Amino acid sequence: MSGSFETMSFATRWLGRPREHWAELGSTNDRAMAWARAGAPHGALVTADAQTAGRGRLGRAWASESGEDLYVSAILRPAAGKAIGALGLAVGVGLREGLARWLPTTQLKWPNDVLVGGRKLAGILCEARWIGSSPEVIVGFGVNVGRARFPGPLADSATSLRRELAAAAPGREEVLASILPALEAALGEFFAGGFAAIRGRYEPHCALVGKTVLVDLANGAGPKVQATALGLADDGALLVAPGDGEPPRRVESGDVWLAP
Ligand code: BTN
Repeated sequence: MSGSFETMSFATRWLGRPREHWAELGSTNDRAMAWARAGAPHGALVTADAQTAGRGRLGRAWASESGEDLYVSAILRPAAGKAIGALGLAVGVGLREGLARWLPTTQLKWPNDVLVGGRKLAGILCEARWIGSSPEVIVGFGVNVGRARFPGPLADSATSLRRELAAAAPGREEVLASILPALEAALGEFFAGGFAAIRGRYEPHCALVGKTVLVDLANGAGPKVQATALGLADDGALLVAPGDGEPPRRVESGDVWLAP
């Protein structure tokens, strides 16, 4: 397997420069991690036509065999001491805005699933390590672009641009070229002002706000309880009201589901 550098350039200042494209990788996040360790700069990008071991959040697999979807990892080097806990939410903002020209009703399911009509269109996996107080972050995202069918349990829960738009669906490079400038802008605002600076571009598109949700208030260690999603805090935590008269509670990690 060998890497090659694509010549196509994007309408960005720093994101996607340089770019390394592979026909097949285990995981673009793993390749980006190795490249980062070898000194790749802030903004460097890894893409692949297919992944043999694509991974999602919470130890899940990310089906990546199609050769028609986007598998992308960016290397980010935020300034030392920056709070990056809500970085994945900023990535969601960028993806949603980059996809909105084709699918304006695209929503974000906290923390960072990208949904259309309740089905998952894209997912985000951020992985970080610290070199002293300087974070090195790999932002991985997968966008279902050209896939017409999904296997097994994904058949009802996933969608693609092609499934939504049929013949009007854009190609992979066109989608990437739309996402990267939107992502660069969202990340720039996030790095300058934290999640508070882009909360107004997340909350109105959040699929959970105002809805009854099932949530684990012990952040992964407790049973699911029913609550109303109220909105997002300045640091990106989901605020929920578990019951009448009870004070709002913060959800900082894990999964949240819409109540059936
Ligand atoms: C999720 O929704 O669980 C996150 C999915 C993230 C998938 C992408 S595809 C590109 C990058 N490489 C990986 O192995 N995972 C991310």
